[in-house]
Amino acid sequence: MDKILILDFGSQVTQLIARRLREDGIYCEIHPFSWSEANIRQYGAKGVILSGGPASVHLEHSPQSSPAVFQLGVPVLGICYGQQLMCQQLGGKVEPSDAREFGRAMLHVTKNSALLNGLESTQDYQVWMSHGDKVTQLPAGFEVIATTTSAPFAAVANESKRYYGVQFHPEVAHTLDGALMLRNFTKNICGCKGDWTMTNFRQATLPHIRQTVGKQRVLCAVSGGVDSSVVAKLLHEAIGDQLLCVFVDTGLLRAGEAEQVRKSFAEYYNIPLVYVDASMLFLHRLDGVRDPERKRKIIGETFIEVFEQEVERQGGADFLAQGTLYPDVIESVSFTGGPSATIKSHHNVGGLPARMKLKLIEPVRELFKDEVRALGRDMGMPDSLLMRHPFPGPGLAIRIPGEITQEKIDILQKADRLYIEEIRAAGLYDKIWQAFAVLLPVKTVGVMGDARTYEYVCALRAVTSTDGMTADYYPYEHEFLARVSSRIVNEVRGINRVVYDITSKPPGTIEWE
Ligand code: XMP
Repeated sequence: MDKILILDFGSQVTQLIARRLREDGIYCEIHPFSWSEANIRQYGAKGVILSGGPASVHLEHSPQSSPAVFQLGVPVLGICYGQQLMCQQLGGKVEPSDAREFGRAMLHVTKNSALLNGLESTQDYQVWMSHGDKVTQLPAGFEVIATTTSAPFAAVANESKRYYGVQFHPEVAHTLDGALMLRNFTKNICGCKGDWTMTNFRQATLPHIRQTVGKQRVLCAVSGGVDSSVVAKLLHEAIGDQLLCVFVDTGLLRAGEAEQVRKSFAEYYNIPLVYVDASMLFLHRLDGVRDPERKRKIIGETFIEVFEQEVERQGGADFLAQGTLYPDVIESVSFTGGPSATIKSHHNVGGLPARMKLKLIEPVRELFKDEVRALGRDMGMPDSLLMRHPFPGPGLAIRIPGEITQEKIDILQKADRLYIEEIRAAGLYDKIWQAFAVLLPVKTVGVMGDARTYEYVCALRAVTSTDGMTADYYPYEHEFLARVSSRIVNEVRGINRVVYDITSKPPGTIEWE
């Protein structure tokens, strides 16, 4: 398989380079800039991309990659800091700019180049800049291939060595032809075929899982969400009944969800599922608890306890499957107080592996979320599951501020179901990152018919986002909100007022607790 190596110098958008490449069927991995020469050589890249980063090449301890990058005989593309570093390492000059340049710039192509193939010199192209330093003298063999008003070295090339550098960021959406430039680099210049598909991934992964697991048993905690469902399906394909899927019903799921998960596993996926109804226990433990953090803690601990007991009852297991995704395992490079590498790790069922002495198996840890969805599709899973909005582990408990009762859960489930139904009917579900109802611990006065009512307030939330880290409220049409409000007040007993949450994140969070 053709592979590209991305060396990360700490840019906020390094992951986007990988995503753009993967969208084109190019397999790539992101590693810290300090990756060793041995690793770089062993990786077997068909090309290397040096990412952007916040540092300056003038600094005494500025991050450098191994010179081996330029000894592999493969094409190299430097982006922003990567361009400056490449030019400096190969004998050119980089200086601080008088003006730091951020945002939109217009790129003018000055010379034919394999990198800019498809772009004409007769028109200008929008690119996105974010840099302080600039190249002022090119290394031997390099020439300028495109400029902007304030960046005479906006794109440079040494065509015979196949080294390219761009001062702007081709990986961001605001560089309108960035995907074309990256494709020129990976496919035309590096010669990658672009044959990384989820069908290939699946074929390659199944024997790997079988080899890792041998005759042992793998445990998978199923939540009904995309990641755990895809992992369960993949593992089941690989090892059949050596897989033990356990679904703990906390009683804090959306209306009809537990039933739907059981049905999907039984009827569509044909995977045996151990169903544990622990809703009474969760409700009992949460009785009278108001503090959001305590709620989360109680739910987490109770989940582990129930899960552990059930697994013991089922005869134990050797591995725990986790739906860890690629963004969770990329070693992120940070420059606060000097270069340092930290690894983020993801624990859906935190604390379990160590306590139960389980080995971890993470079959989709090389994939981005959109690739997990594509894999699910490849295995015949329906979009109604794969395109679902995220749902938090603590469930409705963090959407009922204050004390949780069965009555409140029932009310919220009804309002939430109706709200999502309307969103789907209006064709808005896929335009929204996440939408849900919240039941406030506040009663207000209303009038229905001729009678006074005194019931709860329901808040509606809907946000757009790309990763859940930042978010903005969804700008519904007023008629839509009016329709949902009217239906909830009329059809859900216990609610007599509906409000819409227009807070962005930050300063708000997506969930209310
Ligand atoms: P916040 O509320 O922090 O949420 O803006 C960001 C995203 O994370 C989800 N979320 C959780 N997911 N366990 C999860 O699996 C949790 O404890 C949890 N808390 C928040 C939230 O739904 C949103 O998508």
